Amino acid sequence: MSTAQYPARVRLIDVGPRDGLQNEKQPVPAAVKIELVHRLQAAGLTEIEVTSYVSPKWVPQMADNHEVMAGISRQPGVRYSVLTPNLKGFEAALLDRPDEIVVFGAASEAFSQKNINCSIAESIERFAPVVDAALQAGIAVRGAMSCTVGCPYEGEVAPERVAMLAGLMKGIGVQRVDVADTIGVGTPLKVQRAIEATAQHYGLDTISGHFHDTYGQALSNTLAALQMGVWNFQSSVAGLGGCPYAKGATGNVATEDVVYLLQGLGIATGIDLDALVDAGAFISQHLGRPSGSRVARALLAKRAS
Ligand code: HMG
Ligand code: MG
Repeated sequence: MSTAQYPARVRLIDVGPRDGLQNEKQPVPAAVKIELVHRLQAAGLTEIEVTSYVSPKWVPQMADNHEVMAGISRQPGVRYSVLTPNLKGFEAALLDRPDEIVVFGAASEAFSQKNINCSIAESIERFAPVVDAALQAGIAVRGAMSCTVGCPYEGEVAPERVAMLAGLMKGIGVQRVDVADTIGVGTPLKVQRAIEATAQHYGLDTISGHFHDTYGQALSNTLAALQMGVWNFQSSVAGLGGCPYAKGATGNVATEDVVYLLQGLGIATGIDLDALVDAGAFISQHLGRPSGSRVARALLAKRAS
């Protein structure tokens, strides 16, 4: 088999500082989050999801959004994105000049209600003015689509639901979208169906894969998406993460593991795996637990021997 069927390069968005840390019970100091962003960009990440502008009552860990955004030393060529669920969040984010904002919807009604306290239709009504305001301010807009394969409350999610959400996102001007397997239940063919459904409305260059690794399928799902030509992926250094409104869901696929996979396939990422492992070791040490990345654990053990 040749590597010709795979993209020549892949762009990774590290969502560790946001998706990765949002669910941590102990407050992580802003200085640690800032240091993590610095280490990620030093390792070659060109897109970093830094924080979210959501209700601190809902997600206390992200209450330091301003402090974190103000504290990072921005590197040219790096895109810093933040989550904004409504105009209130967008207006707060605007003061911190993100390069991209992310509106986040769900392909399942129940998850939409639990996560952002409104229906899918209402969420699109809330997002529309946010998207308009962002584009007017010259800020890029991404749409996260949660539960595109399965939902913690509704079970399996049909590809038609994903196509519907992607169409709604497209309709309000969202420039690119994430196909998220929020609870990590997907397997390759199911994930491919969710991507196909999204591709009814978005070109492959504007679709990214966002796979959680709860059932250990995230790398297989990444490979399946690569085989379709998807070349943007979200991952989390050290496999950090979990969603507060998706009980039991573990972290995103570890960035280190994805980089190792891509290196093995001869696909360029621009990321220095050793520096990335160091970034993962830094945050894991702060959190007081071993890295969730198999690759990082293997490489750290090799270094130590
Ligand atoms: P709500 O209660 O329906 O909002 O929450 P509301 O407009 O009725 O306002 C209620 C209170 O919240 C008011 O304050 C507002 O000021 C405040 P009070 O008067 O009671 O003191 N409020 C806000 N405060 C700060 N920032 C805001 C904001 N908006 C209202 N933007 C809301 C609606 C969306 C705010 C709420 O449900 C919320 O914050 N949810 C958190 C959602 C979240 O962050 N989830 C995790 C991220 S999604 C995810 O992880 C999935 C993803 O990774 C992809 C995947 O894996 O699937 C993206
Ligand atoms: Mg996520």
